[in-house]
Amino acid sequence: MSGRIEELRRRYREARLGGGIDRIQRQHEAGKLTAWERIEKLLDPGSFIEFGTFVRHRCREFGMDKKFAYGDGVVTGYGTINDRPVMVYSQDFTFMGGSVGEMHAEKIARTIEIAMKIGVPVIGLNDSGGARIQEGVASLKGYGEIFYRNVMASGVIPQIVAIMGPCAGGAVYSPALADFIFMTGKSFMFVTGPKVVKAAIGEEVTFQELGGPDVHSTISGVAHFVYENDEECLNGIKKLLSYLPSNNMDDPPYVEPEDEPDRTSPELDNMIPEDPMKPYDMKDVIIEILDKGSFMEVQELFAPNAIVGFGRLNGHVVGIVANQPKVYAGCLDINSADKISRFVRFCDAFNIPILTFVDVPGFLPGTAQEHGGVIRHGAKIIYAYSEATVPKITVIVRKAYGGAYIALGSKHLGGDIVYAWPTAEIAVMGPEGAIEIIYKRELAKAENPEELLKKFVKEYRERFANPYYAASLGYIDSVIIPSETRPILVKTLELIESKREYIRPPPKKHGLMPV
Ligand code: HXC
Repeated sequence: MSGRIEELRRRYREARLGGGIDRIQRQHEAGKLTAWERIEKLLDPGSFIEFGTFVRHRCREFGMDKKFAYGDGVVTGYGTINDRPVMVYSQDFTFMGGSVGEMHAEKIARTIEIAMKIGVPVIGLNDSGGARIQEGVASLKGYGEIFYRNVMASGVIPQIVAIMGPCAGGAVYSPALADFIFMTGKSFMFVTGPKVVKAAIGEEVTFQELGGPDVHSTISGVAHFVYENDEECLNGIKKLLSYLPSNNMDDPPYVEPEDEPDRTSPELDNMIPEDPMKPYDMKDVIIEILDKGSFMEVQELFAPNAIVGFGRLNGHVVGIVANQPKVYAGCLDINSADKISRFVRFCDAFNIPILTFVDVPGFLPGTAQEHGGVIRHGAKIIYAYSEATVPKITVIVRKAYGGAYIALGSKHLGGDIVYAWPTAEIAVMGPEGAIEIIYKRELAKAENPEELLKKFVKEYRERFANPYYAASLGYIDSVIIPSETRPILVKTLELIESKREYIRPPPKKHGLMPV
């Protein structure tokens, strides 16, 4: 018996070496941790139980019969993070560049499947040269199996993927189907690499320029979080998880609050500039209202005219959506529409109430936006808010004009409770634009059109550029004093916790979100 146990131990020791000591050294020299080290840093100490240690590939082509490592280049299993169970897979670049063969893929697919069945988050740590070339279509089949599970698990369990090395070709689509993508400074993601780009269209571009973390966190919006190195990235994953329920039947984790629920914020009474054209930082508003230190922004650098992220109000998790008047005056555009609608759908799928702070002059005008399909993309926000059944609380801070007013958590799309600050301006459009349309003839005939315009603008502001007309129609539940926003929202969230949606659409297979 002891001989057999020793044999098992020997095999486990061998498995820990992946592609071998030389390769582990190379991984370290490249500034990366190994698959095992990443798992150890991510999970609670001693909590990891590995599944599939002794799986091996079945390929005999191209000398593959002589290449072998226990686990086939991916470490998979179960563990806990802050005592909450998760399933995890971690690709091992030291064996054949972490390339994905049939059995490697099967291990990942099975990891997602178990996570889905038991209702726990799945975390993927990716570091791979993509489809294992020697295994041909068997490798592609493997990817297909992973993608299929990603889709089936979508909205059932949180799926988080960290890109910690290469992620090329069709391999990008598993992370793309997950809920959140993390990237490290050593990572890159692209569908076609620099060599193919050069051959196909003559463009010369580096790995980082094509698909590094800077590109994906600012331009493409593919990455939700970027961290300099592996350790920081793994800590970021743990922090994100602290806001997420384990599955769509669970509530997000409550944390005993350190902040006072009835804390008022006198500075909010002076936050909005007298001049309606002047910006301010909406993040100051959000941070002031939420429990201290609880705001975790998502996609911070992408479409910064909109803000999305998680936070806590008296210990309860909320999803924040807001306009940022500092960028494009807070206008919505194509990218912010994608960012907001995706976030709202995530919150809705995982029982996270949505708290919206509105200061939006409308949709960004111009040919770039219209030709890029701002109609199609903007519609996603309307769809996402309308379909969301989680509690939806909205605070109109300043401007709420036109379609953007409707889209961002208005009562008309099922917003549950809508508050407005006295600085709110709710109308079809801004005063200057509106007056030039409705008094076009009068202004053309006037002896002093500028004076007349001023007079009309003043009248319009008095009539519409305030919250009271909307409140008189019942579209605003209460006009509140800004400094009292936090205590009011804390109470509102408690009140609305037991919300049940009673308006249901007729039976249908699924709606057609304007993707
Ligand atoms: C088999 C691979 C591999 C792959 C890397 N290796 N990628 N083996 N299939 N896809 C092996 C290398 O041969 C090498 O083995 C070892 O991994 C380490 O790779 P290096 O090239 O030495 O490392 P590095 O210089 O760091 O470069 C990493 C790399 C490069 C940038 C990822 O290896 C690379 O460009 N690989 C190919 C990437 C790619 O085009 N993949 C296919 C994408 S298409 P030895 O034994 O020599 O040390 C795709 C389709 C998926 O993935 C479709 C799904 C739908």
